[in-house]
Amino acid sequence: MLHAVIMAGGSGTRFWPQSRQKLPKQLLRLAGDRTMIQQTLDRCGDLIQPAQSWIVTNAVQAEQTREQLPELPADNVLIEPAARNTAPCVGLAAIHALKRDPGAIMFVMPADHVIGPNEVFQAAAKKAVAVVEADPSRLVLFGITPDFPATGYGYIERAAPLDGVDGAFEVQAFREKPELAVAEQYLKSGSFYWNCGIFCWKAATILEQLKQNEPDTWDRLQTLMQAIDTENYDSVLADQFPQMNSISIDYAVLEQAKGVAVIEAPFSWDDVGSWLAVPRLSGSDENGNTTDGKHTGVDTKNCIVRSTDDHLVATLGVEDLIIVHTPDATLVARRDDSERIKELLERLKQQG
Ligand code: GDD
Ligand code: MG
Repeated sequence: MLHAVIMAGGSGTRFWPQSRQKLPKQLLRLAGDRTMIQQTLDRCGDLIQPAQSWIVTNAVQAEQTREQLPELPADNVLIEPAARNTAPCVGLAAIHALKRDPGAIMFVMPADHVIGPNEVFQAAAKKAVAVVEADPSRLVLFGITPDFPATGYGYIERAAPLDGVDGAFEVQAFREKPELAVAEQYLKSGSFYWNCGIFCWKAATILEQLKQNEPDTWDRLQTLMQAIDTENYDSVLADQFPQMNSISIDYAVLEQAKGVAVIEAPFSWDDVGSWLAVPRLSGSDENGNTTDGKHTGVDTKNCIVRSTDDHLVATLGVEDLIIVHTPDATLVARRDDSERIKELLERLKQQG
């Protein structure tokens, strides 16, 4: 059976100060009237049933996640006792899916991307499932044609077309977050895609890959799998999970694996990676400003302004700024620096 696995453990740093650890991007309405995690499940339509839908998140976000997704069995919200990046996250979902369903195929998705239209997405998902059903050793990725040398994405090098599946290719190599010079070469060569962060594979296959590439994590996952449905589960989880190597599935598995395939994504995709996504998704006015909440501007251009309570933000003679006012913190940054909010948060952490 097909299982949806939604990775929802992001720390919510990039949309600071509106997003916080307790209220990360996926629990916000950034585009449309459903939250991003709700949209992620909506997007799958009838392809996946709630009983086969899994969310992997942390304790701070679990309650809100369950409230936003009342159709999901509460047990399908898996709680990580510590953030160990996406390899352990995928491994945790894989053992749960496998425990219930030995033939489980996982469709792994980030909780916070904007993708559409849903029917096109579902058709692409079906194609990925067909590839996995034809060859259960496959790891299937979705590729986006790059339009600038991004350094925050994985790059997929395409090889020969797959027999009988339109728009699907063998993968020559996978390279996670290359340096700028390398990304520029990839872009020029024309045979690379960006990895959009959605994966399709059998639960048993990804566990086998983890066994080869992260054997210690695999051992711990085996121990944990034996504890599922026993009263010891919580304590074994609390013991084993934080000891797993913190690494993403991209570095741990995709850069090493053979038999990877890529489907050229026919859907539109935005990973909503920074405040700059907001004008991209909701448009801007004739001065290039995107505002939400109370704002009055004179001689203000290309600004992203947000105010989360009734507070008025007034701007005069400024350009290219991000201004986000919340009850307890206000951000003022240059648009160009939107990727650097992490640095700011590190400084804040140091200052306690
Ligand atoms: N549960 C859980 N636990 N989820 C996590 C964790 C974790 O420890 N770490 C990250 N996630 C979730 C994030 O919330 C996000 O939805 C998804 O996993 C991917 O993590 P990111 O941290 O956003 O990864 P990235 O953007 O650096 O890179 C990945 O996505 C790119 C596309 O957006 C990679 O797969 C790249 O190759 C890819 O290009
Ligand atoms: Mg990301």
